[in-house]
This record gives sequence, C-alpha cells and structure tokens, in this order.
Amino acid sequence: MKMILLGPPGSGKGTQAKMLSERLGVPQISTGDMLRAAVKEGTPMGLKAKAKMEAGGLVPDEVVVGIVKERLLKPDCDKGFILDGFPRTLAQADALKGTLSELNKQLDAVVSLEVDDDAVVGRIAGRRTCRDCGKMYHVEFDAPAVENKCDKCGGELFQRSDDQEETIRKRLEVYAEQTAPLIAYYKNDGILRDVDGMQNISAVQERILSELGCGQ
Ligand code: AP5
Ligand code: MG
Repeated sequence: MKMILLGPPGSGKGTQAKMLSERLGVPQISTGDMLRAAVKEGTPMGLKAKAKMEAGGLVPDEVVVGIVKERLLKPDCDKGFILDGFPRTLAQADALKGTLSELNKQLDAVVSLEVDDDAVVGRIAGRRTCRDCGKMYHVEFDAPAVENKCDKCGGELFQRSDDQEETIRKRLEVYAEQTAPLIAYYKNDGILRDVDGMQNISAVQERILSELGCGQ
C-alpha cells in the first residue's frame, strides 16, 4: 500500500498512520516527526526549521522534498509507505509525483481526514506525546492509565511547542491556504478517499481500512 494521509493539524494523521503502519506492515513517513527529530538533534536542517515550525508556518519545499526522497529510497519502502504530513503544497505534490515515477511507483490512495476547526483545537490542546517512544495520547479521548506516563514504555509525556492555541490557529490558516488545494489535485487523479474524521479513533481506523479495501 502506497498512500498519503491528508488532513488539517490535529485531524488524527499521526494516530491513524501508526495504527495503519502496524496493520499493513508498511512504514509511516511523518515529515513533522523527522523535522522535530532534526530540531532535537540540532542539525543544520533542524536549526533552519525550528523557527518556522514554532510559528506554525511551513518549512521550505526543497528541504522536505529532499528528506522524503531520501526516505523513500530505503528498502523498507519497497512494499509501500504511509505519508503523514507530506505533501503539504502543490509543489511538494508535483515533486512526489516525479520521485515516484523515477522509482517506477504509483500512489494507491490519498485519504483525506475531515475534521472541523473547533474539534482540531480541542484535540491538539489535549494532545500529549511520550518523550521516549513518541506514542501519542489525548488527556480526554485517549488518556494514559497513569497521568503523564506512557502506557507502553513508562516515559514522560510532554506537550509539543507548536501546540499553543495561537499557533494552532495559524497552522489551520496555512492548511486552508496551502494544503487544502491538494484535495482537488488528488480528486482529479481519481485516488482521493474522503473519510469522516469526527468519529472516535477506532471507528475512523475501520472507515479508512474499508475505503482502502482492507476492511474485515
Ligand atoms: P506535523 O507534525 O505534520 O503537524 P500537523 O500537520 O499540524 O498535524 P499534527 O501532528 O498536529 O496532528 P495529526 O493530524 O497528526 O493528529 P494526531 O494524530 O496527533 O507538522 C508540524 C510542523 O512541521 C508544521 O507546522 C510545519 O512547520 C512542519 N512540516 C511538517 N511537514 C511539512 C511539510 N510537508 N512541508 C513543510 N513543513 C512541514 O491527533 C491529535 C490529537 O487528537 C491526539 O492527542 C490524539 O490522541 C487525538 N485524536 C486523534 N484522533 C482522534 C479522534 N478520532 N477522536 C478524538 N481524538 C483524537
Ligand atoms: Mg502528526
């Protein structure tokens, strides 16, 4: 399965991508996670990306296109991949088409998660992530058994630095202006699958699997 998960910030791309990755046995490729790792390590790319990310803007196309291209060349992508948070602009979508065509590959599906703005703000404000293993929680909708402690590895949970309400609003604006046009782009390619992302996490997962023809 070679697919993209498209959707506004907080729509559940990361949550669904992790579950799909396990279920389908293909890697999740999250540009947000890769950029956050670069910021944490203090690499030159991370230093450049940090200010943009904290302000809720986009990192330049050539930077993300480069890291995705490099990632897609790794052997674990031979059977497929789930792109989470990429592409985010029409230029990135065109670049992805070019890269896949060089690799003789083609996308199977683009799943567009539809969630309204108020729900997004509530989801992001309540999101907590494990510092050690990256597992995500929500204080209300997907709470850990022990407050601020990861169920999986016992790590400490933290809140992302771009998850303040003002930055969330900015990220939503950027999504509407620069990323939402990709819905029409992939509809035109005939591979867009709309999924109602307002249901609970497992209902959304079932819906996606059924759209992909992998349901029970
Ligand atoms: P990125 O990390 O991709 O952030 P995002 O797109 O803003 O999306 P989020 O990760 O915030 O949300 P999500 O959709 O993954 O939702 P999640 O599953 O966590 O990008 C961050 C920044 O990096 C960008 O702003 C940009 O600066 C830069 N960047 C990244 N990619 C780039 C690119 N291609 N080009 C340029 N710049 C780029 O869920 C959210 C919360 O809701 C969680 O707490 C979860 O538990 C909960 N939840 C999930 N599903 C449900 C549900 N169905 N019901 C109730 N709660 C739910
Ligand atoms: Mg995410």
